[in-house]
Amino acid sequence: MSMPPLPAFPPGFLWGASASAFQTEGGADTDGKGPSGWDAFAARGRIKDGADASRGTGFHARYREDVALLAGLGADAFRFSVSWPRVVPAGSGRVNAAGLGFYDRLVDALCAHGITPAPTLYHWDTPLPLEEAGGWLNRDTAARFAEYASVVAERLADRVPMWITINEPAEVTLLGYALGEHAPGKQLLFDALPAAHHQLLAHGLAVQALRAAGAANIGIAVSHSPVRTAGTSEEDRFAAELYDTITNWMFADPILTGRYPDENFAALMPGPVADDLAVISAPLDWYGVNYYHPMLVGAPSSDALGDFAGVGMPAELPFGLRDIESEERTDFGWPVVPDGLRELLVRLNDRFGDGLPPLYITENGCSYDGLDDPRRIAFLDAHLRSLHAAIDAGVDVRGYFTWSLTDNIEWVEGASQRFGLVHVDYETLERTPKASYAWYRDAIAAQRSAPQR
Ligand code: BGC
Repeated sequence: MSMPPLPAFPPGFLWGASASAFQTEGGADTDGKGPSGWDAFAARGRIKDGADASRGTGFHARYREDVALLAGLGADAFRFSVSWPRVVPAGSGRVNAAGLGFYDRLVDALCAHGITPAPTLYHWDTPLPLEEAGGWLNRDTAARFAEYASVVAERLADRVPMWITINEPAEVTLLGYALGEHAPGKQLLFDALPAAHHQLLAHGLAVQALRAAGAANIGIAVSHSPVRTAGTSEEDRFAAELYDTITNWMFADPILTGRYPDENFAALMPGPVADDLAVISAPLDWYGVNYYHPMLVGAPSSDALGDFAGVGMPAELPFGLRDIESEERTDFGWPVVPDGLRELLVRLNDRFGDGLPPLYITENGCSYDGLDDPRRIAFLDAHLRSLHAAIDAGVDVRGYFTWSLTDNIEWVEGASQRFGLVHVDYETLERTPKASYAWYRDAIAAQRSAPQR
């Protein structure tokens, strides 16, 4: 598919791809890995077709193939996640040398190809014993996470120049603890708020632990959706603002300003909140944004969606989601709204001003089936143009990681949603680059040879 070349991105802009441990590694019984809350959730039949992630994409055994694919892409960086239960099988206590050794070899393989390893320390796979002790509802989990962070940094900080503490604390809180669609499957609605606070605390404690162990260049990957108001009534505006607060600012504000966006939320959080906020807001080197699509939100009403992309929305929620009009939708049914990325980045810049560290897009991508995937190419092209427009508008964005290098286990959707630039045959685990892989490779190469802006 030939498209006009992308405009030139700033010098040194980092081109990357993302993945996560639970979604790719497999090797469930290898290295003495412990079970995670997600393994237990899968065993309860909560993944489509009763699937589990015990094989994943076979990344644990085939990581060298995927590193070669990254090299073929000309990627500058690879964002992968370290599996906490592979490194500390019980979540605390004994460190598993074999598990740590796997990441050591992966980092070496990336470095040998000149690819920057950018590990995420937590991409949702809480060690099962910690999950069973309350998971993120339990303050102790934050302290255990910081211990694990220092174990990983002590081993890898000499070669890893970019770190991510936690992936999408909002999704874990909402999907895992409030609505029960993801592990651990709790349906606590607003009583899930402690899970948000404890993840934020875990982030802050991990930043301290990483720095103490010699790691530098630390960020976090936070999901953001620009929220648009459906309707014009006062109730609609209130509902949209509440949704915006819960999904965007309840996470970004504590990290970037040391305050919860609303005193009422702060009052609902557990523990010594003011002291915790001082830890949570330790200055970051950069801030990661995961963007998929905007949300349209109004007052709860009978025409609100009963479920969004398979996630059930209980009627008692104080807001109602609406369908965004969009000519194009991914296989997941998600609307394709590239300008939402520019809109979001400009909003972040306006809201936080000088308090906003440099940004990276730590995830952006789409689910489409097929090896010939012109719609993924169109998606990536349009989102990169939108990102470029944000940079032109003055937002300091330093890099872009597409989600994902290969197809992978899309959480409760199992193998049914394919986000990869590279196709995975789940029978043979064979990898086949899609048309979008060649497009991204050529786009990266063109940036390298383009006159710099
Ligand atoms: C998550 C990924 C997931 C992607 C697509 C993000 O919420 O970080 O793990 O695969 O979205 O749903």
